[in-house]
Amino acid sequence: MAMEYRALPLTFLAHALAIAGAVMVLVWVLYYRGGMAWEAANKNLIFNLHPFLMLFGLIIIGGEAIMSYKSLTLKKEVKKVIHLVLHAIAIILGCVGIAAAFKNHNESNIANLYSLHSWLGITIISLYGIQWIYGFLVFFYPKGSPTLRMECLPWHVLFGIFVYILAVGNAALGFLEKLTFLESSGIAKYGPEALLVNFTAVVTVLYGAFVILSVLGRAHVEDDDSYSAI
Ligand code: HEM
Repeated sequence: MAMEYRALPLTFLAHALAIAGAVMVLVWVLYYRGGMAWEAANKNLIFNLHPFLMLFGLIIIGGEAIMSYKSLTLKKEVKKVIHLVLHAIAIILGCVGIAAAFKNHNESNIANLYSLHSWLGITIISLYGIQWIYGFLVFFYPKGSPTLRMECLPWHVLFGIFVYILAVGNAALGFLEKLTFLESSGIAKYGPEALLVNFTAVVTVLYGAFVILSVLGRAHVEDDDSYSAI
């Protein structure tokens, strides 16, 4: 099913929002929070990998993977490979980002998995992984029969949209949680850092909205309905 508007122009807006979001999260962690590191005496630097990798990896690369059927003018088989490779990169960066949050907690003697954000996070990365494996087996290798692929496709799209919306919502929750911690330890509620973090979350949500809108729009080549022939 496609809505009666063209997806391509919306993907341009989404790319612009992706660049804005990536720049904003980088300014936050590098300029305001002191940088990122896997090994450091200052454990906050380990945590800082988390927001960057979750936004850039899971949300932005994942969103680009979702939009690739609508944003690229290539053969379907090529787009399929781009779709699965970008999703694999999104999952790997997401896993490293989550590992950084655990590493920061373990090395700072903070409990793990105490928040709604962390429970949703584990659920999202697990569902994302399951979705990738099942998509790979059914649509790529060893690849189901045409009937099986046709039957699985709407579920693949529905489940993918569900997990992606959940991920965008959880990223917003993560920004809120971290900013609340920072505000309780002294940063100004209307200061430049607080505004930057809140607007990064706004840009993240807008990006997610344009990703979903582009999924629902028409592909740019009239007879090339990505969903029917995946
Ligand atoms: C969809 C993207 C995200 C996922 C899947 C995710 C997942 C997780 C997980 C699983 C943890 C638990 C780590 C532990 O218990 O040791 C966690 C912790 C945390 N995350 Fe995220 N995260 C995401 C995005 C973000 C973003 C963008 C921020 C913004 C700063 C953030 C802030 C936090 C904070 C403050 C914690 C530590 C407190 C807590 O455990 O709730 N997260 N995240």
